[in-house]
Amino acid sequence: MYPSPMADGGYDVADYMAVDPRHGTVADAERLVAAAHARRLRVLFDAVPCHTSIAHAWFREHPDWYVWSPVDGPANNWRAAFGGPAWSRDEVSGRWYLHSFYPEQPDLDWRNRAVPDAFGACLRFWLERGVDGFRVDAIDRLLKDPELRDDPPASGPPPLPLHKEHEVLEHVHSRNAPDIGTALARLRAAARDALLVGEAYVPTRDLPPYLEHIDVCFAFELFHAPWDAAQIRAAIDQATAVGPKRVAWVLSNHDFKRLPDRVGDANVRAAALLLLTLPGMVFVYQGDEIGMTNGPGREPPDDRAGRDPYRHPMAWDDGEPNKGFTSGTPWLPVTGAPDGAVAVQRADTGSLLHLYRDLIELRRSLDGPVEVVDAADGVLANRRGEHLIALNVGPEPRPAPRAHRLVRHTHHVGPRSVPATLGPGEGFVARI
Ligand code: NOJ
Repeated sequence: MYPSPMADGGYDVADYMAVDPRHGTVADAERLVAAAHARRLRVLFDAVPCHTSIAHAWFREHPDWYVWSPVDGPANNWRAAFGGPAWSRDEVSGRWYLHSFYPEQPDLDWRNRAVPDAFGACLRFWLERGVDGFRVDAIDRLLKDPELRDDPPASGPPPLPLHKEHEVLEHVHSRNAPDIGTALARLRAAARDALLVGEAYVPTRDLPPYLEHIDVCFAFELFHAPWDAAQIRAAIDQATAVGPKRVAWVLSNHDFKRLPDRVGDANVRAAALLLLTLPGMVFVYQGDEIGMTNGPGREPPDDRAGRDPYRHPMAWDDGEPNKGFTSGTPWLPVTGAPDGAVAVQRADTGSLLHLYRDLIELRRSLDGPVEVVDAADGVLANRRGEHLIALNVGPEPRPAPRAHRLVRHTHHVGPRSVPATLGPGEGFVARI
């Protein structure tokens, strides 16, 4: 919602202390936060500390706040996250600047003390207006190798997928510097005790240095895990090893294919059951709770990296203009959900929306870490305190683990006994 030329869906911020007039005003943002607080909801804003927009006044007023090549050309072989070289020539000064993402997003130099000071003032601007915390973008890019050494060629498939051109290198110098903690400590000092959720796009096992300063970080292995019991189990185990409730779980976001397009339509309910019964913080991407699939995007595309199809807006009511999302003009069409918008699903207790709501309510009564429960091949079974969570992630019906009393089934509502068999894509929560 910050003022932005929108080269990267707003992740190219031109002013951190304002709201783009297309979206509203700072007073609107304050009203939003107050309205949420009145409902006992807390609000996180996005914070983008790694780079600004090239249109940010800082880029011209404080060029030393950015990372520049010491030579007349790219300083090294680093690749940008969406492909192409990570260095571009600034037409005004003729010098080459670093951009971990699009060329319109020059990287800030967090080794320069003035940068955390300036960025900290931006965080405090919003904290003073009642914001409760931040989802902090791309924090694994805050510090790079100070000597700007070349990244070596990739030795195998990347731990987490990104653009094909980016995957040809092992990103040992262009991100995740060994002293990343110094930048994170400055970010933390600026944010004081506000909640910080880190987007560090690194394997979960590499999160501990981040978690020294950031409250929780997204665990991306589960997000990208194939729908396979062993791989899902491995992703959960990695998070357990990092520490209880230190990862934020997420199965879907605005950067990758929609959930049904990754796990398959038949597994969407089991995926919700899995996600919402894990310990710690959970993020649900808008539209997942009504089963939205990838859309057509638009022509010409908005996002050069091809992410429009994952970003169609939330469908509230099929009977309203723009399905109730806006009375203005959305920049991507509101495509809706195969089983209907929120208004339809709200009226149907068997809907996916009701499953999400029931599980969100239920997760408050789940406690303790995930304990692995023996189950048939292809069945994933977790114990949380007095609850058993079981789901069939395989293609065949399987015997269900035994439990005492059914609490919620993925597909059936109302009183039933614990099923003896789980069909593909089925699951339940039960009392042990
Ligand atoms: C991660 C965001 O989720 C993504 O949308 C964005 O393109 C990059 N960070 C760069 O800010």
